[in-house]
Amino acid sequence: MSDPEETQLEARLAEQEAFEPPEEFVEQANVSDPSIYEEFEENWPECWEAAAELLDWESDYDEVLNDDDEPFYEWFTNGELNASANCLDRHLDDRGDETAIQWEGELGETREFTYAELHREVNEFAAALRDLGVEEDDVVTMYMPMIPELPIAMLACARIGAPHSVVFAGFSADALATRMNSAESEYLVTCDGYYRRGDALDHLSKANEGLGGVDHDTSTVVVDRLGDELEHELTDDQHDYDDLVTEHVGAEVEPVTRDAEDMLFLMYTSGTTGKPKGVKHTTAGYLSYAAWTSHAVLDVKPDDTYWCAADIGWITGHSYIVYGPLALGTTSVMYEGTPDYPDKDRLWDIVESYDVNQLYTAPTAIRAFMKWGSQYPEQHDLSSLRLLGTVGEPINPKAWKWYYKHIGNESCPIVDTWWQTETGGMMITTLPGIGTMKPGSAGPPLPGIDARVVDESGDEVAPGEAGYVTVNKPWPGMLRTLYKNDERFINEYWQEYSDPDADDWVYFPEDGAKIDDDGYITILGRVDDVINVSGHRLGTMEIESAVVGVEGVAEAAAVGGDHEMKGEAVYTYVILEDGYEEGEEMAQSIIEGVEEAIGPIARPEKVIFTPELPKTRSGKIMRRLLEDIANGEELGNTSTLRNPEVVEDIAKKVRGD
Ligand code: WT7
Repeated sequence: MSDPEETQLEARLAEQEAFEPPEEFVEQANVSDPSIYEEFEENWPECWEAAAELLDWESDYDEVLNDDDEPFYEWFTNGELNASANCLDRHLDDRGDETAIQWEGELGETREFTYAELHREVNEFAAALRDLGVEEDDVVTMYMPMIPELPIAMLACARIGAPHSVVFAGFSADALATRMNSAESEYLVTCDGYYRRGDALDHLSKANEGLGGVDHDTSTVVVDRLGDELEHELTDDQHDYDDLVTEHVGAEVEPVTRDAEDMLFLMYTSGTTGKPKGVKHTTAGYLSYAAWTSHAVLDVKPDDTYWCAADIGWITGHSYIVYGPLALGTTSVMYEGTPDYPDKDRLWDIVESYDVNQLYTAPTAIRAFMKWGSQYPEQHDLSSLRLLGTVGEPINPKAWKWYYKHIGNESCPIVDTWWQTETGGMMITTLPGIGTMKPGSAGPPLPGIDARVVDESGDEVAPGEAGYVTVNKPWPGMLRTLYKNDERFINEYWQEYSDPDADDWVYFPEDGAKIDDDGYITILGRVDDVINVSGHRLGTMEIESAVVGVEGVAEAAAVGGDHEMKGEAVYTYVILEDGYEEGEEMAQSIIEGVEEAIGPIARPEKVIFTPELPKTRSGKIMRRLLEDIANGEELGNTSTLRNPEVVEDIAKKVRGD
């Protein structure tokens, strides 16, 4: 950075706190009239017809919102439609030969599906699933990496009215079994393996191990991703994907008419207790909301090449790789591998090769790019980019500015989108053609979204003060319940701030935040026992039960500690049973135990052995204190503890003195 002009620019950028959307962007934006905020407010809930209009309906809905049985809201009541028809069939006339999915494998091979081709294979696989016995409302589990057969299987399920439940391929065999048991899912679609950093990974053995833990009969479809690279054998209740599709070549399956409120899919996510929550999303509300936010926030147009670099195993990929972009008839890019293989410019190479117009990724990835250095993006022509997005955790202003300058060339708006598995789609973010951007702050709630920052009694906090996010009105993409557990649904999300006697229902997402005097919301992070590792949600209880499952462990606490790249990392504090020895070997078996129970993403960064955990007089573990210790922060008053003396001992161990 010897060039003085460059240094000056850098200094200006470092100080700048507000960025206006580039004029060129505004001129072409899907949404650019600021009156949309007022319009939606005045015309609520009918404003949501704007989302419904993005879909094709078999029969019209009677009512936009039915709130007779709060908080079990219904959207677009009595409307009928099919999600697969909306993502495929209706595009065939105009866009049949346009690319729907542009896939790139880690080794560089590519596969392209036009809408017509995708439609054909989805039909064939839908016919195959039916032949296997899948009926409407049967939950089909998918345990697959980023290969085209995953969205194909999802859309095939949607076509026949079978909800899918996608389990992230990086999750463990145990996690798969837990989710299949919980959903009573009798069908699994998986694959033999996939590539990671150039190595062929065996995935089927893990899937099979998981199936061993499923307590009912199952049938499985296995995609052959690796060919000769990995020999695999199928059992009697396992079918080869290619064989099935070949057997059904040319088959056409009429899309099943689904009610607006019929379940489109289940997605398991972590919560406060050890048991993952099966978040239920519906056909019309979810799909219209995914389409609307893709249109308004990501500015997706049919002719775009749009790339969300998330994994379909998470909600981000469901909404913004599969359903939103395909409902809008655009080209959605899918990449199988890691961003640093074969080199650290892989993403920029993909942007350049396909002329990507929008890139949607996570702060953890942006921090990695920043660390690797700007020489990697500089090797590529990124001028096709028009918009950038981030999601998953707060983005610090430094990373935001790096993204803005080195990827967006100071000419792409950035949308910092706050939302959750439960919300189905984005909730708080600037609209890229309207809002001033303030690095680090997600922005105002979207039009029609009544998100607030409140104190413990539900009153809005003064600007600058910390409080909690609440959502005070329902929205189409909201979860409808937790699978077969209405009670837990109410307890988890509607307990804190609602007043049922006054018919006042308030959704609590369990995030802390601040609000500025101009209504911009800065998210501070989770306030429950959930850790956000690289934008992925992990429950401390899930990790703790995995640690306690390791032989020799008596008790454990897991907390999130700040981490430069991952945002948060897992710290585990462990008490051993008598007769077991603290040390490297034990730490290793704890790490392996967690990886086995949950998956490598939950791998503890540190295992700290201690004879006791800090507890309140009533015996509750003081997690906040353990977090402060992990972060090397000043420890506050510990006098309310039953055992204050352990705190300093633990802190010493973490500091390594
Ligand atoms: C939690 C939801 C939304 C899809 C990916 C994660 C955090 C999400 C942001 C953001 C600050 C964010 C919140 C939220 N989060 N986006 N832009 N700024 N925090 O979905 O696994 O359901 O996690 O991620 O804490 O509650 P998820």
